[in-house]
Amino acid sequence: MKLPESQVAVLNAASATDATTIGSLAEETGLKPETVTQAAFELRDDGYVTVEEREDVEYELTEEGRQYVEDGLPEVRLYRAAVDAGATDDPVQMGQVIGASGLGGPEVDIALANFGRKGYGSIESGALAADADADAENDPEVAVLTALADGEAVEGADEETLDQLVSRNLVERHEETVRSVTLTDDGVTLLMEGVETAKTVDRLTPEMLTSGEWEDVEFTEYNVEADAPEVRSGKTHILRQTADRVKDVLVGMGFQEMEGPHADADFWINDCLFMPQDHPARTHWDRFALDVPPIEDVPEDLVDRVEDAHRNGVGPDGDGYHSPWSEDFARAIALRGHTTSLSMRYLSGHEVGELESPQRYFSVEKVYRNDTLDPTHLLEFYQIEGWVMADDLSVRDLMGTFEEFYEQFGITDIQFKPHYNPYTEPSFELFGRHPETGELIEIGNSGMFRDEVLEPLGVECDVMAWGLALERLLMLMYGFDDIRDVHGTMSDLELLREVEVLR
Ligand code: PHE
Repeated sequence: MKLPESQVAVLNAASATDATTIGSLAEETGLKPETVTQAAFELRDDGYVTVEEREDVEYELTEEGRQYVEDGLPEVRLYRAAVDAGATDDPVQMGQVIGASGLGGPEVDIALANFGRKGYGSIESGALAADADADAENDPEVAVLTALADGEAVEGADEETLDQLVSRNLVERHEETVRSVTLTDDGVTLLMEGVETAKTVDRLTPEMLTSGEWEDVEFTEYNVEADAPEVRSGKTHILRQTADRVKDVLVGMGFQEMEGPHADADFWINDCLFMPQDHPARTHWDRFALDVPPIEDVPEDLVDRVEDAHRNGVGPDGDGYHSPWSEDFARAIALRGHTTSLSMRYLSGHEVGELESPQRYFSVEKVYRNDTLDPTHLLEFYQIEGWVMADDLSVRDLMGTFEEFYEQFGITDIQFKPHYNPYTEPSFELFGRHPETGELIEIGNSGMFRDEVLEPLGVECDVMAWGLALERLLMLMYGFDDIRDVHGTMSDLELLREVEVLR
């Protein structure tokens, strides 16, 4: 009979008459306790040994417990001082007894609490009376502490006393499962017939196949039920994973990626978008202004055309805003509140030169808004920006693009609501249903850029565009309902660790 090395070692070390603990078997065989345990269970499954389990309880003195073995328990010391001061006859001022006991600091409270609990006496209006019949010299707690200090067994001691000492933190209780192994008759027979060590291998090599050795070797079994230690390695944050996935999807749909500054001129963030300079979103309420010098590099002719659109409108029936417009205001720098600033940079030809229709561009980047924090709003979030330029586009193209995009994330019930943006006409807000709460949540904003935007940029065909919130997409995919679970200092680490990323 051939058995793996560890099993042979355990069989040889075990006895048919006495139960041997895993610990002693490990010592005798020189194997690790886990290896012995595993081998013992395998032998048991084959009927060669029995494995017995018992719960072992051990008690150990804590640092404080050890201290009291030397100094005496505080309540016992208090009792002795009280007896010496005559408190068995008449109550004595507490201060006097405590002073005489030599107790100090937290020991005083400990002494007083246990003095009362053990019936050593009582305290009334600041005076301490000791009970002459109390047997403080034979305190059972002291007996257990002393026994432990002398290395004597305390398993037989009163349960209640042991519990009390554990709760006083003077003693620690350790529990462990002790397993012992005994040979069965089959095990003895097997040993008498002789067991050989099988060479066990955990992988098949080309050499084994060519030499034919594979026919004789014993393969290590996988123990698929063994408790494996949980390994928590670093992993990509789900927000980043989803951002990467969004990029893959959009690239698959024929889009190219835009890049650009987080801090940008209002010109690119707002003016190009036909946002009047007195629009509420451009005030300090919503905007993170930066105290840095204004932008230098903006194309002069574009600035002129944008100013003209604001003042006079575009086309024969166009009308402007009749509100102030200043170039200095346009050149001031702020954190971008949307990545539509990037779309403006690209559409104007400023980034990659004049673009020939058709074109598709996107970005998945951070934007910053001075919002009030709540479960669906943060001061920063990721926007999935995108636009398609083509000769003849309609709202159906826009809706179809969203359906195609969201479908890749398993979201098939997008709803559209008419909306208003100063820069698109028509405009639509997008809504999706939260998988847990059933509520419709806003997931994006979109529309067809109007002539007042496109004409100054020099774009002659149609452009449909959008800004979608990556975090809202995540909410629909994973069902959490507080954006702060995945972002920032209050993140739900459990969620971030456990969540299975949908691919
Ligand atoms: N900028 C818009 C927002 O942040 C999104 C958008 C982009 C809408 C382009 C229409 C066109 O909500």
